[in-house]
Amino acid sequence: MLFVTGGAGFIGSNFVLDWLAGSDEPVVNIDKLTYAGNLENLASIRDDRRHLFVEGDIGDSELLARLLAVHRPRAIVNLAAESHVDRSILGPEHFIETNIVGTFRLLEAARAYWSALQGEPRDAFRFLHVSTDEVYGSLAAGLPAFGETCRYEPNSPYSASKAASDHLVRAYHQTYGLPVLTTNCSNNYGRYQFPEKLIPLVIHNALAGKPLPLYGDGRQVRDWLYVGDHCSAICRVLDAGRVGETYNIGGWNEKPNREVVETVCAILDQLRPRADGLPHARQISFVKDRPGHDRRYAIDASKIARELGWRPTETFDTGIRKTVQWYLGNPAWVQGVTSGAYREWVGRHYGH
Ligand code: NAD
Ligand code: TYD
Repeated sequence: MLFVTGGAGFIGSNFVLDWLAGSDEPVVNIDKLTYAGNLENLASIRDDRRHLFVEGDIGDSELLARLLAVHRPRAIVNLAAESHVDRSILGPEHFIETNIVGTFRLLEAARAYWSALQGEPRDAFRFLHVSTDEVYGSLAAGLPAFGETCRYEPNSPYSASKAASDHLVRAYHQTYGLPVLTTNCSNNYGRYQFPEKLIPLVIHNALAGKPLPLYGDGRQVRDWLYVGDHCSAICRVLDAGRVGETYNIGGWNEKPNREVVETVCAILDQLRPRADGLPHARQISFVKDRPGHDRRYAIDASKIARELGWRPTETFDTGIRKTVQWYLGNPAWVQGVTSGAYREWVGRHYGH
């Protein structure tokens, strides 16, 4: 039995779906169903008895203790978080509550549960914490990609809260011996990503004939990782990662934002041309930059390749095409998540 938190979100739902496609081991999925959590992501396993969904908060110690006692998982995969940098700038409080206090409560519950285990279940237990490359801060052009020993220099309330959670996870290993694993991954993209993040936002706006907002000069660089590759990496680390270690996971795909948006536009030009025949890239609009915007992230994923034999299978070209095709093929899902609350966020953030 696996215990997954945040499994109704973007990466979490992909992880649960991929897990159940490849294994008969059941999953307990605890998710608070914030604006980012969506049970529609899990519609295909609604009647699957291997999946138990529990609406709940990782900050709820009583609930966690009860679920752990009843289901006795062999591992916890922590994907629950507030995850959007722009929202953390507008209102950091939820980020502190979930990413720091929530992770702390989850660690406490895991420690109590694991401490009472004996023998093989105790030796085999793992707490896998999913984090981000943003904890390392902004990488100057020309510098080598982030390795696992890079200094933590978070610049946004989001990345600072994730950095704090990583430190807590580390401390629970060093102090209490909790068998933890930490993964720090780069920007994910793929099916079920909420359209507040760059790639789904651009697909959504392009189809709606709306502006495609690029912050600042659009030359900020991110390292894009296809979500299916990320999920396979998490599985690999869970299986064979060395306890107490950190593994950086990236797609070996550094791209400036402008190029990413132009690529999406070019695919849409082929698959869903504009009625007037003009290129979607005409909708690109440069807008005010994000405060404290990190210029570049890049992950050196050679440790996980060397130690665990994991490499991404998608290139950016193959992954982005699949992703655009998925959004085009799932208008009902997009419609469902871009209703009232979403429009309110877009209006507040982009000012239209
Ligand atoms: P997401 O925002 O799509 O999903 C987060 C999920 O967590 C949602 O389902 C939400 O309802 C749930 N949640 C939020 N607060 C909760 C709480 N207190 N208790 C229980 N559930 C709660 O995020 P995502 O993109 O799927 O990210 C998953 C993890 O991966 C996060 O830890 C994030 O920091 C990390 N990460 C994401 C990316 C990325 O590109 N998306 C990159 C690096 C790291
Ligand atoms: P995002 O998807 O929010 O991920 P993160 O901030 O975690 O990297 O943004 C990816 C990049 O795209 C980042 O450099 C900010 C930029 N961006 C825009 O230029 N315009 C937008 O409307 C959004 C949402 C992001």
